[in-house]
Amino acid sequence: MKKLVCFPLAGLVLLLAAQIPTATFAADKKLEVFSWWTSGGEAAALDALFQAVKKADPGVEIINATVAGGGGSAARPVLQARLAGGNPPDSWQVHPGLELLGQYVPANYCEPINDTYQSEGWDKVVPKALIDLVTKDGKTYAVLVGVHRGNDLWYNKKVLEKNGIKVGDKMTFDEFFVAAEKLKAAGVTPLAVGDSGIWATAELFENTLLGTVGPQGWIDLFSGKMAWDDPKVKQAAQTYGKMLGYQNADHSALSWDQAVKAVIEGKCAFTSMGDWTYGEFVKANKKDNEDFGWVSHPGTDGAFIIVSDGFTLAKGAPHKEDCIAWLKVCGSKDAQEAFNKLKGSIPARTDVDKSKFGPYHNWSMESFAKDQLLPSCIHGEAAPAGFQQALNDAITTFVVDKNADRFVKALAQAAKEAEIAK
Ligand code: GAL
Repeated sequence: MKKLVCFPLAGLVLLLAAQIPTATFAADKKLEVFSWWTSGGEAAALDALFQAVKKADPGVEIINATVAGGGGSAARPVLQARLAGGNPPDSWQVHPGLELLGQYVPANYCEPINDTYQSEGWDKVVPKALIDLVTKDGKTYAVLVGVHRGNDLWYNKKVLEKNGIKVGDKMTFDEFFVAAEKLKAAGVTPLAVGDSGIWATAELFENTLLGTVGPQGWIDLFSGKMAWDDPKVKQAAQTYGKMLGYQNADHSALSWDQAVKAVIEGKCAFTSMGDWTYGEFVKANKKDNEDFGWVSHPGTDGAFIIVSDGFTLAKGAPHKEDCIAWLKVCGSKDAQEAFNKLKGSIPARTDVDKSKFGPYHNWSMESFAKDQLLPSCIHGEAAPAGFQQALNDAITTFVVDKNADRFVKALAQAAKEAEIAK
């Protein structure tokens, strides 16, 4: 049975410490950073990290190695080929949990960075629960730049107002369907989905699954205590299928950020997506609570699906010294404040100045502090890559045939193969 990563943080006492970044770049002043941050909001946020590097040393040449495609599904195979071929970038974007610790670390692709954690005092400013997600056998392998909340439902405020729909502090599935019917009757597409990359509709399922089985069910599913063909999982699939009935007709032609654009432009009302969505709203100059609003995905209030992003130090990094300096920048307070404001995630550090952040970030920080924190499956943290792939495949079929029985049977089989199921 695979280990479940689950970490209730509420009430955790966090030590705060002032930190002065000590990044020094080496003589060759070169750095290659690999990521899939290419959407408008993502690229702007990544650039904020690069600007912080340039501030520390204007002479550093940064190779921005990106492979487009949300969720990294296109980037990871390219990265894997480079790593396996002994041609690593200095540093790559990684999710904590099983993606880092079950995939890259056992393959010996990562260099531990405990010394950097110590010299920068990160163990005092980053919650232990997060550091644990990038640590194996006492060795820490990535610096976390931000923590996304995966289970958000975003909406165009003006579109809802125009149609007399009010969203409160939380939402039930029934309330969502009432709103969706009303919008449909008014000729507005209720739900935007952009599943040219299948992970984006899988994320809608992930959120709906949590909203149906609840946090304990989530823990039980990924630890093998609840079967993947349990009636509750089937119910989640049926609810997900019902939601798909309200999606945009061109969903399979759009990427996740094009779906967000449809919400921004008022063509669609809602989208269920992690808070990298926020980055797209900000990039389009939209304002929290004026142009757009958000609520936990139906049924998921009180839970926070973690989708965190980290950066590694590659074993055999061509520019090791510069890479360590890069990691120091990524972990610094200033860079995390600048980056996360644009990205939508909250800083991994807890000593940031909250007044520098707007309503959404403060809402998310509050949720992170008090809610049940759960790992994402779609973003590689909760389950091995094989199960993640099998889930995506099952979703691909389900989007077309809407056969909940076949769907849960495929998941149960995949859970067995991935040794999640007992
Ligand atoms: C996630 C990643 C986020 C965001 C999203 C969409 O996997 O952690 O930072 O970029 O994909 O591309």
